[in-house]
Amino acid sequence: MITLREMAVQVLTMADGRAKTALSLSHGAAWQTAREAETEVALGRADPPLRPARPEAPELLDPRDVPRRKPGTPEGRIAILHAIAHIELNALDLHWDLIARFPDMSMPIGFFDDWVRAACEEAKHFNLICDRLEALGSHYGALPAHAGMWRAAEDTVEDIMARLAVVPMVLEARGLDVTPGMIEIFRRAKDHDTIKALEVIYAEEVHHVAYGSKWFHFLCGRHDLEPKGTFHALVRRYFPGGTKAPFNEEKRAEAGLPPDFYWPLSDRA
Ligand SMILES: [Fe+2]
Ligand SMILES: [Fe+2]
Repeated sequence: MITLREMAVQVLTMADGRAKTALSLSHGAAWQTAREAETEVALGRADPPLRPARPEAPELLDPRDVPRRKPGTPEGRIAILHAIAHIELNALDLHWDLIARFPDMSMPIGFFDDWVRAACEEAKHFNLICDRLEALGSHYGALPAHAGMWRAAEDTVEDIMARLAVVPMVLEARGLDVTPGMIEIFRRAKDHDTIKALEVIYAEEVHHVAYGSKWFHFLCGRHDLEPKGTFHALVRRYFPGGTKAPFNEEKRAEAGLPPDFYWPLSDRA
């Protein structure tokens, strides 16, 4: 069996979306089987690329140049699903990158269990959304997508605490804020299959934010740092855009993010 970090690099260097998710799911299953059998699995060491491989399509554009479409139209709903598929693919790579990126940081094995599970959930999310795009006569790659999505990863390659603060605790938490509104758009369109897919995503994304909060607090404890102030300083430094109200306080609380973490960073603070 190859090491976990070699698995991560294989996923990161796979360009095609469906092939990437298939590899992610098979590596995730191998990891889980080994863990359940209590077999020793080596974490190893590997050299993750600064940016993951991407398919030729979608074309990646500056967010300002991505055309906006009305959510009340079929084209608008396809554009929303396309944007979500792109986010899921990036999230998948972000979780494997976190596994591969910081080999000198000794972490409990549960850290790796959590992020392998999160990566496999993102693979499922990408496939669910691609299935819906295809059922609606489109596919991932048919529209342009945001180019900036890997920015947060590159900005935090040197600092695992900054990575946890920005990726799961800011960006994925933002997903919890906006998903109910998206579900509402598809409810108005009576697109029940898409609602089902989005509800799976909404339920599972809470875990990813919770893993972020859990391991961020763990590292604060290890280094004797005060969590809230440390979180604020890291987000201000690495993600100056901050957080954006309104917040889904209930789901954020479920994920271990109290209001005094995100309100002071918000555009309405
Ligand atoms: Fe996801
Ligand atoms: Fe996620």
